[in-house]
Amino acid sequence: MHKILWPSLLIASLAACGGGGGAASTPVAPTPVTPAATVPGAPSSVAAAAGDGKITLSFTAPSSDGGAAITGYTASCAAGSTTATGTGAASPITVGGLTNGTAYSCSVIATNRIGNSAASSAATATPAAAVSVAADFPGDIVLGAPTDTSMRLKLYSVDRSGTLTIAYKAATDASETQSATQNLVAGKVLEVTLNALRSNTAYQYRVILRQTGSTTDTVSKNYRFQTARPKGQSFTFTVQADSHMDENSDVDQYKRTLANILADQPDFHVDLGDTFMTEKHAEPLTAVIAQPTSKATLDARYRYERANFGLLTHSAPLFLVNGNHDAELGWLVDGSAQSLPMWASQARLEFFPIPTPNAFYTGDSFVDPVAGNRVAWYSWNWGDAQFIVLDPFWNTATKPGADAWNFTLGARQYQWLVETLSKSTATFKFVFLHNIVGGLDGAMRGGIEAAPFYEWGGKNSDGSAGFAQKRPGWTAPIHDLLVKYKVTAVFKGHDHVYVRQELDGVVYQTVPQPSAKNNNSGANIASDYHYVAGTIVSSSGHLRVTVTPGKVTSQYVRAWLPKDENASRRNGQIDHEWTVNAPVGVSPQKITGPAKVAR
Ligand SMILES: [Fe+2]
Ligand SMILES: [Fe+2]
Repeated sequence: MHKILWPSLLIASLAACGGGGGAASTPVAPTPVTPAATVPGAPSSVAAAAGDGKITLSFTAPSSDGGAAITGYTASCAAGSTTATGTGAASPITVGGLTNGTAYSCSVIATNRIGNSAASSAATATPAAAVSVAADFPGDIVLGAPTDTSMRLKLYSVDRSGTLTIAYKAATDASETQSATQNLVAGKVLEVTLNALRSNTAYQYRVILRQTGSTTDTVSKNYRFQTARPKGQSFTFTVQADSHMDENSDVDQYKRTLANILADQPDFHVDLGDTFMTEKHAEPLTAVIAQPTSKATLDARYRYERANFGLLTHSAPLFLVNGNHDAELGWLVDGSAQSLPMWASQARLEFFPIPTPNAFYTGDSFVDPVAGNRVAWYSWNWGDAQFIVLDPFWNTATKPGADAWNFTLGARQYQWLVETLSKSTATFKFVFLHNIVGGLDGAMRGGIEAAPFYEWGGKNSDGSAGFAQKRPGWTAPIHDLLVKYKVTAVFKGHDHVYVRQELDGVVYQTVPQPSAKNNNSGANIASDYHYVAGTIVSSSGHLRVTVTPGKVTSQYVRAWLPKDENASRRNGQIDHEWTVNAPVGVSPQKITGPAKVAR
């Protein structure tokens, strides 16, 4: 690089050359050369950020000020023949007065005393109404009653009111569809039904809430759901039982299990009851035995359980199965509208989207004069499986106590079960109920050891045949129906332990609690409740069941809290697994052999 001699140095050099002899010439200093100033260079690196009716432009100052200080910047945003400007002394500059939804092309110029720079390169942005993105909907969402073309959502917020819209799309859709706007009222459940969905399709959705008095929307993060799958499509569903949330339960343990279930991304989740517990406790997490004395008190417990489920059910439809502690008990029905079983039935229907018989679901269409259409038993198909939910409580008019023959599905539900099984064309069939109809100890206990007795198995407690006398005109004991129609598995709760058993080709799966304080008491519990055969594992966790056209795989996913984990106790580990293969070489419509069960 050349060094430039400054004029002063040049003068000094000339002076040093002056020698003797003759008069020294007087050096003449040259006039300093000052380049003429010009306009600045153009700003660079322009970025445009859209706001509500405005665009904010950030930029880098030009490397050349043209020889004169930059006095300011002007940002311009143009759409068609309309241009709006904003000025400032430095980056960033906001251009206001823009139309939301219109794309603008924006640039920036720098100005000094000579004039304006050339325009920067353009950046584009489209102003839009302000939104604040919330991590979650400020309340809880329970999906339910999914079909091949629809999904029902029940949304609830303690303290938010306003207008609510569901924006949803399939993964392959270019744009969202929006539900009709409805009013959300704080403290009240809002039901939204999405119709005209495509079958066998994964959707994502978000909840847009404009709170009363606000000019901006709160938009939830994206949630998901899946519409019904046809035969030939594989899927996963999950099962839990007996969350209880009483003095033996742990909230963190339950939430850990629910998080594990959410991670499975099941198409739906089945809860086997003893969930709301109002037959025993008005309040959660207490040992105090006291039934609610008002509908309002009972409702509070349903809201509490909604909030727990809400950790999962924004992205997994929930199916409820009644348990003995859920208070919808025939022996408590006394003809009064203001009574525990009526309040419980009404609350279940109010707070949760319960399937009603339609083209997709079969089930109880009876309308109780007080409780309405309770729909506590129902059935649906999904992929290669049929799902059947039973309710042995409402039609049991006399508390079973010492005589477990009192326990019954009732004639109507029994006939529906016979019809459902006999018409089924599914490769796999699953039955869900809280406990088998009958059971031991006068307390509905047990698995296959209890299966031979009462309405479930047909025998009296002394082993003699009793079905023909006790259930005159009925086709066969329930277990015999399950064998005849090749039911794959019975999923039941009530006994608070994981037990996998098999009887006459039918899997009897007792489902563990999702919420119990881990105490390794499974073996003791199983012994107390007369389990002899099978694989026994303690609570807590859930079942993850995967159904493919060829087989069913059920896994017991154990939940461990971080404080309890060690080398052999890892959250999410598989503590037991079983598989049932579909019959080989036989069309699903004509199953002639028993399902093969692998331990
Ligand atoms: Fe229970
Ligand atoms: Fe129970």
